[in-house]
Amino acid sequence: MTSVRDAVSFDVERIRRDFPILGKGIAYLDNAATTQKPQRVIDRITRFYREQNGNVHRGVHDLSVMATREYEGARQRIAKDINAKSEREIVFVRGTTEAINLVAQSFVRPKLKQGSRVLITAMEHHSNIVPWQAICGETGAKLDVAPIDDNGDVVLEAFDRLVRKGPVIASFASVSNALGTVNPIKEMIEMCKSNGVPTLIDGAQSVPHTRVDVRDIDCDFFAFSSHKAFGPTGIGALYGREELLNAMQPYQYGGDMILYVSFEHTEYAPSPARFEAGTPHIAGAIGMAEAIDYVREIGDFRLHENRLIDSAVQRLHEIDGVRLVGMPKRRMGVVSFLLDGVHPHDVGTILNESGVAIRAGHHCAQPLMHRFDIPGTCRASFAFYNNEAEVDALIAGVRKAKEVFSQ
Ligand code: ALA
Repeated sequence: MTSVRDAVSFDVERIRRDFPILGKGIAYLDNAATTQKPQRVIDRITRFYREQNGNVHRGVHDLSVMATREYEGARQRIAKDINAKSEREIVFVRGTTEAINLVAQSFVRPKLKQGSRVLITAMEHHSNIVPWQAICGETGAKLDVAPIDDNGDVVLEAFDRLVRKGPVIASFASVSNALGTVNPIKEMIEMCKSNGVPTLIDGAQSVPHTRVDVRDIDCDFFAFSSHKAFGPTGIGALYGREELLNAMQPYQYGGDMILYVSFEHTEYAPSPARFEAGTPHIAGAIGMAEAIDYVREIGDFRLHENRLIDSAVQRLHEIDGVRLVGMPKRRMGVVSFLLDGVHPHDVGTILNESGVAIRAGHHCAQPLMHRFDIPGTCRASFAFYNNEAEVDALIAGVRKAKEVFSQ
């Protein structure tokens, strides 16, 4: 629970000064696409390249030893943050997409045959649809899609019915990138567990807003990206239960993922090295851990974020001609809307001219747009560094778009 003291002590104007890109005439409301980076993260990456750069796990010289220490330290930091049992359960990947592909290829694909099933929901991002569709197509398995209701919430009874059909995995978002729906993932995971169905949670949109405890939610896999959580692009993490990871085939093959190689035979290293062939994104991993440290130190921002989102929802709702897309029971980070008779791209263009950055389009969730029978939405997405003045700018921009297109 956020206490009144936490809410009062969260000084958004002070926090904004940590982000050099903010306050330069742009209200940045495209945080679900990527977040801005605090100076501290930028400095940490620079320091690595200036003072610590070497390759990891390979050298006896000081720079390699230092780089290895920092890289593995980042892994430990991330493991601790999400309450994994061990750092061996954290695999560095390029981001959520690569994490899902890794699980699809290494954990699920070998188990699929004609008649097997994979379960997702109707609100998934393409990255949590296409990898499953591809391996189902190759093996004759069926991709089941749990429906959502008109508010954008998963129909839990239908999800449960599909779980009982025994899919090889159930893979679903913690928070929808297009609607902001917060799924009741503990309840959904429990349904899966009681039917022996392994789970993969796409945490890309929850990690920037809330702390994750993988042992508490009791999932088998959890995927997330650093760049959506104030860290660098090109790096993310896959959490997986150690016994599952060590029973999986590697995803890619090469250096640093082996115990022994001959021309006849290769013995693979255990997790996480097993899944990290080639030189990894060392500076990225270190920057990712630094971003986590930064976020943990700034205090509890949930009340601040919730207030901003409530304000945006309320004020958009008050504009005649605006339709909110998705009114989920619980919302995080995202508000999607349409302006009557105006294409989302046109609204986005006018907003850009007014200094407001939003995303307009299908948000890599075309099947979800089909569900609502729309081509796309305007999406304003928030982070803890946004303020009410930026909501004012959004509302003014939408009113301006309405005026321009009503002429
Ligand atoms: N997945 C990101 C978004 O929703 C890119 O915008």
